[in-house]
Amino acid sequence: MGNLTREMIENTGIFNVSVLTENVPFETIRHFGMQTGRQIDKFAEFSAVKRSHNGLLYVTENTNAMFSCKVLSKQDLGSHMMFVGEVTESKVLSGGPSCTYAYYHQEIKPKF
Ligand SMILES: Cc1cc2nc3c(=O)[nH]c(=O)nc-3n(C[C@H](O)[C@H](O)[C@H](O)COP(=O)(O)O)c2cc1C
Repeated sequence: MGNLTREMIENTGIFNVSVLTENVPFETIRHFGMQTGRQIDKFAEFSAVKRSHNGLLYVTENTNAMFSCKVLSKQDLGSHMMFVGEVTESKVLSGGPSCTYAYYHQEIKPKF
């Protein structure tokens, strides 16, 4: 809950969602999901992005859709902060199946 993403959403009241597809490489998940923007700029060397109307970036590779949202409410669930957003822009980016959390655990996460 101490992550920078939550703080940025709370401070700006807007966020983008990039829906990953099953062919997403582990490296993309590692890059965005296993390090914090407090220490590195995650978009500095990641070129597969475009800017939406709200001024934020979204991922254009290994994604099938994007949503731009405006925060309507938030709820502290203990382990997670849940934001409810109104969609202000959306795009279909490809036809591949979405990468679910279960798919990530079964097929993408390295098994050491
Ligand atoms: C597959 C996966 C799912 C994750 N799901 C969440 C999540 O639902 N909520 C959350 O706060 N962090 C989640 N994380 C952890 C964050 O991605 C991680 O703390 C990240 O480094 C935060 O970066 P930030 O400080 O730039 O926001 C997840 C990580 C992975 C790899």
